Amino acid sequence: MVTAVAQRLASQRKEIDDTLAAFALSPTQLQEVKAKMRVELERGLKKDSHPTASVKMLPTYVYRTPDGTERGKYLALDLGGTNFRVLVVKIRTGMRNSVRMYNKIYAIPLEIMQGTGEELFDHIVQCISDFLDYMGMKNTRLPLGFTFSFPCNQTGIDKGDLVCWTKGFKATECEGYDVVDMLREAIKRRNEFDLDIVAIVNDTVGTMMTCAYEDPKCQIGLIAGTGSNVCYMEEMKNIEFVEGDEGQMCVNTEWGGFGANDNIEDIRTRYDREVDGGSLNPGKQRFEKMTSGMYLGEIVRRILIDLTKHGLLFRGRITERLKTKGIFETKFLSQIERYIRSILQHLGLDSTCDDSIIVKEVCGAVSRRAAQLCGAGMAAVVDKIRENRGLDNLEITVGVDGTLYKLHPHFSTILKDTVRELAPNCKVDFILSEDGSGKGAALITAVIDKYLYAMRFSDETLRDIMARFRREMENGLGRDTNPTATVKMLPTFVRSIPDGSEKGDFIALDLGGSNFRILRVKVSHEKKQTVQMESQIYETPEDIIHGSGSRLFDHVAECLGDFMEKQKIKDKKLPIGFTFSFPCAHTKLDEAVLLTWTKRFKASGVEGMDVVKLLNKAIKKRGDYDADIMAVVNDTVGTMMTCGFDDQRCEVGIIIGTGTNACYMEELRHIDLVEGDEGRMCINTEWGAFGDDGTLEDIRTEFDREIDRGSPNPGKQLFEKMVSGMYMGELVRLILVKMAKEGLLFEGRITPELLTKGKIETKHVSAIEKSKEGLTKAEEILTRLGVEPSEDDCIAVQHVCAIVSFRSANLIAATLGAILTRLKDNKNTPRLRTTVGIDGSLYKMHPQYARRLHKTVRRLVPESDVRFLLSESGSGKGAAMVTAWASRLICSDPPYITCHSFTAKKKKKNAVS
Ligand code: BG6
Ligand code: BG6
Ligand code: GLC
Ligand code: GLC
Repeated sequence: MVTAVAQRLASQRKEIDDTLAAFALSPTQLQEVKAKMRVELERGLKKDSHPTASVKMLPTYVYRTPDGTERGKYLALDLGGTNFRVLVVKIRTGMRNSVRMYNKIYAIPLEIMQGTGEELFDHIVQCISDFLDYMGMKNTRLPLGFTFSFPCNQTGIDKGDLVCWTKGFKATECEGYDVVDMLREAIKRRNEFDLDIVAIVNDTVGTMMTCAYEDPKCQIGLIAGTGSNVCYMEEMKNIEFVEGDEGQMCVNTEWGGFGANDNIEDIRTRYDREVDGGSLNPGKQRFEKMTSGMYLGEIVRRILIDLTKHGLLFRGRITERLKTKGIFETKFLSQIERYIRSILQHLGLDSTCDDSIIVKEVCGAVSRRAAQLCGAGMAAVVDKIRENRGLDNLEITVGVDGTLYKLHPHFSTILKDTVRELAPNCKVDFILSEDGSGKGAALITAVIDKYLYAMRFSDETLRDIMARFRREMENGLGRDTNPTATVKMLPTFVRSIPDGSEKGDFIALDLGGSNFRILRVKVSHEKKQTVQMESQIYETPEDIIHGSGSRLFDHVAECLGDFMEKQKIKDKKLPIGFTFSFPCAHTKLDEAVLLTWTKRFKASGVEGMDVVKLLNKAIKKRGDYDADIMAVVNDTVGTMMTCGFDDQRCEVGIIIGTGTNACYMEELRHIDLVEGDEGRMCINTEWGAFGDDGTLEDIRTEFDREIDRGSPNPGKQLFEKMVSGMYMGELVRLILVKMAKEGLLFEGRITPELLTKGKIETKHVSAIEKSKEGLTKAEEILTRLGVEPSEDDCIAVQHVCAIVSFRSANLIAATLGAILTRLKDNKNTPRLRTTVGIDGSLYKMHPQYARRLHKTVRRLVPESDVRFLLSESGSGKGAAMVTAWASRLICSDPPYITCHSFTAKKKKKNAVS
């Protein structure tokens, strides 16, 4: 009897041992796993074998780990592990250990994980929206790093096509598509906030970066969590399908796919096959299914059912609960030693002491195998790195994350022991990522962003700049403060916008923008007012711009003579309006003393002189025609008048071209420098000089300083130099040189062309930023500079351009915002309705500039309805309007035309109609 029981027990024991023996891997088997993994790592890297390799070795476009100098404020998403997190990461002063993070965890319901792609990304964006509200950051357009823990085919740091879903995700219409695009689209659909998605990052990479920030020896990232995966720094020359041989790039191995080519069938058990068969992706991720949290519990459950069926457990009784897929969670494997009773109770299992022991053994066998397999894989990786570097011995650190590694009592020890046994020549340290991979994603964003972070402004900063400019305006207007003010706020003696009654035949000169133009403007008044214009562009050679003042004005007079000749009006003395796009002090409309040259101009003997006199003198000297210069206007004023002709609400004129500047209608009572308190006068702000007294030092970058040093007017027009077309291409060039020197671009190649001032122009920036052909343009332009750009380089350069032009639009939005709030206060109205007339090549030609500007202005001055009106016909038409008004003023003597008579006239007009 005793022997019968003993025999039965012995045979039961044997059956259990046989079942679990399949999970015990011998040292030889582990060596084999390591060797096969090594083969697959190589196959994944090689061009020929890559398509069929089970370990995909995906390039990540992360070229280096953080060096501790990163800083800035970033948003990060962390999707694909147990939790979906949205975070903000602040890296303070460029020191290690100076990171602060705030995060919130959001649920992703199963029906969304397995619904449509659009639903998934809409959900993600909704969570971001909630987080931004929660943080009070809706209006800050932050750079974003996206940890997306799935295999992606990356062609750049911010481009990744999802290869296939793994783990528990299965949303439709995502595989094969760019995840960054999908996120961007969803942000656009929501139309509530804007983000700058800089990087897409696998969780292994994020983890490596998080840990490398603390320990520079960390060059491997391991996740042992819901999924299983590794990344490491590989030599560029070994990554055959990525161009370039210099330096390193982090490779996302996606080792979870190991085994897809049947090469580990010998160690897979029937339970592994069952789990695989019942998964969302049968046949795939075979290694992951033996090693990661998503599946280990399920393997255990299936073994338990099997053992119970054979009467080896729970007296042969299988509960309904135990039949439920997924009921045996992986966390139970971690907790089983301490909480066995309550776990079994939870499963409705009536267990004996023996049952408990057997269940613990099952869990131990399954998790032990998982840790050993990861160890074998890791041994293959570290040996590869050691051989890459031609070393006998390697010291290296692995950054690790994942619930399995963190929570299981023995997983990490077994893993480390296995690595030690299988890779005896490598001393491998493991450090735990305390902060998750979001921090790493932010650090990657920061590495990319190192030179650019200072060019991004939060709305908070922009509001601050707006307030500063508001103060500058007040200084410029005040009698006592004006002499030392940098923003000169020059009275223009233009007192109203066109009222529709102007008529006559005029000549307009337009000097100071990218073209020198002479126009004939005929304004007639049959039935309705019509304007006819003819114009011609004349050259202004560099030597004339930089020569003597008398030569410059002789040249202008000569061109004017030629124009009149062609128009056959040399015998007439037509009134002339002179758009002169430089800062001038007026005491009346036809007297304009040049205060200082700006932009490219530097003709001698003109500063401090009345340009009307200089031009008259040059015309007299010729003696072949007569001229009557009736008004000098700044181009901003001309633009406001041109636009005012079409829209009576226009009361602001801005130029975003070679230079930048704005004018607006100010209440006369606020202009201390001009007599009189009634009505309004247009003020030429000359905002280009904003910052000349140091007010903008906190936002100027090393590149801005370099531009200034190399300009014809160092120390002057500092705002203009950060913003306008004359400098933008050059700013981009300087940043590219710096990045290339750091090896971040062009594989470190620097050519003489790249080093030549002026080789990148603002029109190039505009071309590169075009959404469709932008990258091709970038390639063309960079190739002309001889740097042989890779596709990546082109993407990075596009990014640099966007940052620089975005900064420009943001800064203009801030200064324009200040003008708008001033107008609003002047009118004492709760809501400002107004029109801004705009001209200038940057605004007109850049594909996204206008949209960005309008959007930011509306955000900064929400209590306004602003219409932006492009001046289609340049400032000459406006200059003619001013001239019309000036000539009438002279013909009709006083009463002086002020806004009073303007409104009176308008009323009459309305009455007639
Ligand atoms: C987190 C990381 O800490 O760990 C995630 O922030 C990662 O990016 C995760 O995916 C992996 O572990 P688990 O167990 O959550 O899948
Ligand atoms: C033109 C105006 O359209 O734009 C000029 O007629 C003005 O008066 C110019 O100076 C500004 O733009 P840019 O790009 O030519 O400097
Ligand atoms: C899966 C994913 C992989 C990720 C890993 C860990 O294996 O395919 O990209 O790194 O899980 O989360
Ligand atoms: C420069 C000039 C200014 C002009 C602007 C735009 O800033 O100083 O007068 O309006 O360029 O052309």
